[in-house]
Amino acid sequence: MEKFYITTPIYYINDKPHIGSAYTTIAADVLARYYRNKGVDTFFLAGTAEHGSKIATSAEKAGKDPQSFADEMSAKFSTAWDVLQITNNDFIRTTEKRHAEAVNKFFLKLKDSGKIYEGEYEGLYCIGHEAFIKESELVNGVCPDHKTKPEMVKEKNWFFKLSEYGPILKEKILSLELVVAPEERKNEILSFIDQGLEDIAISRQNAKFALPLPWDESQTIYVWLDELFNYCTAVGYGTDTEKFNKYWPVDMHLVGKDIIKFHCVIWPALLLAIGEKVPKKVFAHGFFTIDGQKISKTIGNVIDPIEWATKYGPDVVRYFLLREVPFGQDGDISEEKLKLRYSGDLANGLGNLLSRITTLVEKYSPSLVIGEAQLWKTSDNIDELIENYKFHEALAKMWEWVAWGNKAVDENKLWELGKTDVKKFEEISTQILSCLVTTSTHLQPFMPEVSRKILEHLKKEKITKAEPLFPRVQ
Ligand code: MSP
Repeated sequence: MEKFYITTPIYYINDKPHIGSAYTTIAADVLARYYRNKGVDTFFLAGTAEHGSKIATSAEKAGKDPQSFADEMSAKFSTAWDVLQITNNDFIRTTEKRHAEAVNKFFLKLKDSGKIYEGEYEGLYCIGHEAFIKESELVNGVCPDHKTKPEMVKEKNWFFKLSEYGPILKEKILSLELVVAPEERKNEILSFIDQGLEDIAISRQNAKFALPLPWDESQTIYVWLDELFNYCTAVGYGTDTEKFNKYWPVDMHLVGKDIIKFHCVIWPALLLAIGEKVPKKVFAHGFFTIDGQKISKTIGNVIDPIEWATKYGPDVVRYFLLREVPFGQDGDISEEKLKLRYSGDLANGLGNLLSRITTLVEKYSPSLVIGEAQLWKTSDNIDELIENYKFHEALAKMWEWVAWGNKAVDENKLWELGKTDVKKFEEISTQILSCLVTTSTHLQPFMPEVSRKILEHLKKEKITKAEPLFPRVQ
């Protein structure tokens, strides 16, 4: 692989980051770190979606003008990603000038494609989704996700002929030019295409806090199109051709399963209309519930990822989210479950192994260093698991190694062996230390700080008792 361009969705800033947005971003960071470590030229993009009625309304409620509200809220996301050790190369905001300029170019190109026409739209608009919603999707007259009544809109709009793109999209998905994964999501998209695609409105009549449509002042750009285009803006569309050609097409859009139609149908069709290549892959992960319940402000079970990171450490949050739920599936999380992983896998597993072995070595064989010759060997292929997004399996495998290490301490009664047979003691200790080095090396993309601490400690001239990696949480 020559380069790896990976993106997260750009999140709405009507609210602060939540555990769902942290999840996508952490997973993307694991992949970005993994490929960077392999020497691949990696570009990892994150950002915030700041236009639209939803934001305008939230700003109004907060008594702020939309732009200062956006500045304040967007900063919460970049700060959160810093706390969570996210290594994005760029952070794009849709209210930036560079984005507005690129979107303008994109829309003019779209107009030239001949795939745009003027028409009238009549339908129900859900502000929560920032999208039109079908009558048949409502439950008791309200949007089932946002529990709000959509507004009836009848207005002049510009439309994009999405209906023409069914066959070509299908062909690209089936030929794997555009990989949609996991399989379930691919089937969902294919059957959606088979039902027949409808044209979509690409502008709104004077929606609040949105970019103007370049050729019609009475219209603003539909926020979702403005947002999707961020993936091109950030790598220099229309401003830095060299950079754009280097990174486009994007290798991976990582998204939640709620927004795959936008990413696997509308987005590639728009790109085809302006003569650009479609994304290479869209991977959709599942949704979290908390104690079996949907995450919702009304229920009051919203988890702040920063609170968890402050209390348990960012690496612990990263480990927990990726270890607890198989990536791609829905899953349930809670602080109780996190605590179990903390005391089990982390404190009693990895942390305990490091502190036991370093304590014993310091005591019985202070001059021991890890010899290259005795590197710990395993036939497990962690790389393959990561490259196939099986993060929980990769972590589970590494914890089998940790368990092996703890068992080796116990079964060989190292604390006695140190007194009776130093040679044997050193042989086994070396294997265990090597096992820790191997584990920490593979763990780096997941738990960068923990991995760094272990490796730095073990590679010192002299091995000394290590401080607890996962102290008791107050
Ligand atoms: N602004 C659009 C995305 C535009 S991308 C060009 C948007 N923003 S959002 O703030 O609503 O974020 C949606 C994303 O947040 C989901 O796709 C998913 O990545 C993440 N999640 C939100 N809630 C989630 C859970 N309960 N569980 C897991 N992830 C979730 O849509």
